Amino acid sequence: MSDASAGSAPQRVCSELSRDVPVAAPGEFQPLRLGALSVWPPVVLAPMAGVTNYPFRALCREQGAGVYVSEMITARGYLNGNRRTVLLASSRPDESPRSVQVYTSDPKDAGEMVARLVDDGVDHVDLNLGCPVRKVTSHGGGAAIPVKRRLMANIVRAMVANARGKPVTVKVRKGIDDGLLTFRDAGRVAQEEGVSAIGLHARTAAQLYSGEADWDAIGELKSSVSIPVLGNGDIWECFDALRMMRRTGCDGVIIGRGCLGRPWLFGELAAVFAGREPPPPPNLGQVIDVMLDHARRLCEFFGPELGMLQMRKWSAWYTKGFRNSSPLRERLRVVSSYAELERELSELDRAEAFPLSALRAHRGKSGRVQSVSLPHGFLASRDDDAPPCEQFDAAEAESYDGG
Ligand SMILES: Cc1cc2nc3c(=O)[nH]c(=O)nc-3n(C[C@H](O)[C@H](O)[C@H](O)COP(=O)(O)O)c2cc1C
Repeated sequence: MSDASAGSAPQRVCSELSRDVPVAAPGEFQPLRLGALSVWPPVVLAPMAGVTNYPFRALCREQGAGVYVSEMITARGYLNGNRRTVLLASSRPDESPRSVQVYTSDPKDAGEMVARLVDDGVDHVDLNLGCPVRKVTSHGGGAAIPVKRRLMANIVRAMVANARGKPVTVKVRKGIDDGLLTFRDAGRVAQEEGVSAIGLHARTAAQLYSGEADWDAIGELKSSVSIPVLGNGDIWECFDALRMMRRTGCDGVIIGRGCLGRPWLFGELAAVFAGREPPPPPNLGQVIDVMLDHARRLCEFFGPELGMLQMRKWSAWYTKGFRNSSPLRERLRVVSSYAELERELSELDRAEAFPLSALRAHRGKSGRVQSVSLPHGFLASRDDDAPPCEQFDAAEAESYDGG
């Protein structure tokens, strides 16, 4: 070791973008207030369909702190007692606060669902107003709802009225496309209707998950409302959360794809918000231990068959960027039992370091764009508040990507 490096702090393992980002200074950031809930660090796990079920939420929560939101749960499926929907909405006594994202476009269902969720012990309810899926927007649901301000107001009002003081939040996109931005109106309506915070995924529905999230829109929303604003889009490393909050002034961050196969990101976030350097990323051996832990939790929650089926996509995300990961992923894609997974992983070099290339590698969604389909004549009647007639069943909707 040279004299120059003797006694110096270990080098950050991060991308160039994060190299010089200072960790939080004492008092620089405040806890996120969601009604009576105080959330520190101001970090929220994004609702993600097929992802943020109880097993993954528990895994993330053990690494850090914050609010961990369920995947979107359709009100119709939940109110009809659809078995799978009720399972996806469920939790375990160790989860606190308990947070559920609701999908509906009907004020009556919205109110009923919130009342039931609160009876069931839910502490926070989020409303999905950003689902970009064609089948949803073409009936006027999801990301199309904020186009109809009065309909959005009716849904939110019913939720707040039935939440018995529990915080209700909404999560929106920037709008339909660059020609039809709705986030400013959505912020106004949310605030007027007593919502505790608004989350903005800073992309339009047309963009899906492509391109860079427009953090300036988050800053603009923050300066136009007095309720807390949660910024969402492109937080891949813990330092991105600090950059986003510093640049936009938002009150908290929502973590989406950055934590797919990287639940330890929440530990890194907890560290940097507490003013500490994050721990170094895990080596392959430690990743394998997390994978096996995750697989056990999925099997316990969904049963061994469905649990291992679900694990296939996780295996691809966990191993991204490690040496020879393409053929490995091919093998892991067909693994059908826990024992098989253990056997495959036992062949790997546990000492291999975490690949830098994986830090900002996109997971979960491709970069395609779409032209958003809306119902015929939809834009001619923006003050119409009739709920759309959506024709899909809960199981189908829950397989969509929700936002
Ligand atoms: C697999 C997947 C499923 C998603 N499901 C939902 C959902 O159910 N509800 C929702 O509001 N957003 C959903 N989203 C969007 C995320 O919550 C988040 O807004 C988006 O990924 C942008 O954040 P990111 O750039 O950090 O990934 C989903 C995203 C992904 C990748």
